[in-house]
Amino acid sequence: MQNTMSDIVQAHDLSFQLYISEEDIQRRVREIGQALAAKFREDYPVFIGVLNGAFMFTADLVRATNIQCEVAFTRLSSYQGTSSTGHVNTLIGLDADLKGRHVIVVEDIVDTGGTLHQFKQTLSEKEPASITLVGFLMKPEVFKNRFKVDHVGYEIPNKFVIGYGLDYNGAGRQLSNIYQLKED
Ligand code: XMP
Ligand code: MG
Repeated sequence: MQNTMSDIVQAHDLSFQLYISEEDIQRRVREIGQALAAKFREDYPVFIGVLNGAFMFTADLVRATNIQCEVAFTRLSSYQGTSSTGHVNTLIGLDADLKGRHVIVVEDIVDTGGTLHQFKQTLSEKEPASITLVGFLMKPEVFKNRFKVDHVGYEIPNKFVIGYGLDYNGAGRQLSNIYQLKED
């Protein structure tokens, strides 16, 4: 594919190259939504989006799933600066009563898996009927955990990406496409 100017975006001091188009993103979201609808149509599940990154994916996914459901958000952080601390802080907790409920956790990207691992344990204590993990992106090269991510949009190499909710120091979340850090 030939590069055009709009295939490159700038965020702060870094340049990023178009990596997954809006069209491809929306196609995968519809596929995941259909799979979730088939599983949970009768269950009145609770989607829990992990802020900030998953705000856009969560909004698209609940519409693509298009079944009766509830939607909640939590805010977790395992990052301090640019590296994982290994300890996950809950910045916004959940007040929803999840006992006996089918819970669908929605993440923008699964990197080491540390965030989801700890959140899954926190959720288990609330005795839900089931926990389903959905990550739009996943970096298998750096994933350090054993649990399964039930639905993955795209497996990608260990390169930094922005767009579709993902940011570089706060920039780039609004982009409809996903862009990969350009190395030149
Ligand atoms: P863990 O290691 O706990 O990390 O699975 C998941 C969180 O790390 C952030 N992350 C990224 N954010 N572009 C981003 O904008 C990336 O390429 C990237 N890789 C990891 C993200 O906050 C995710 O929730
Ligand atoms: Mg995140």
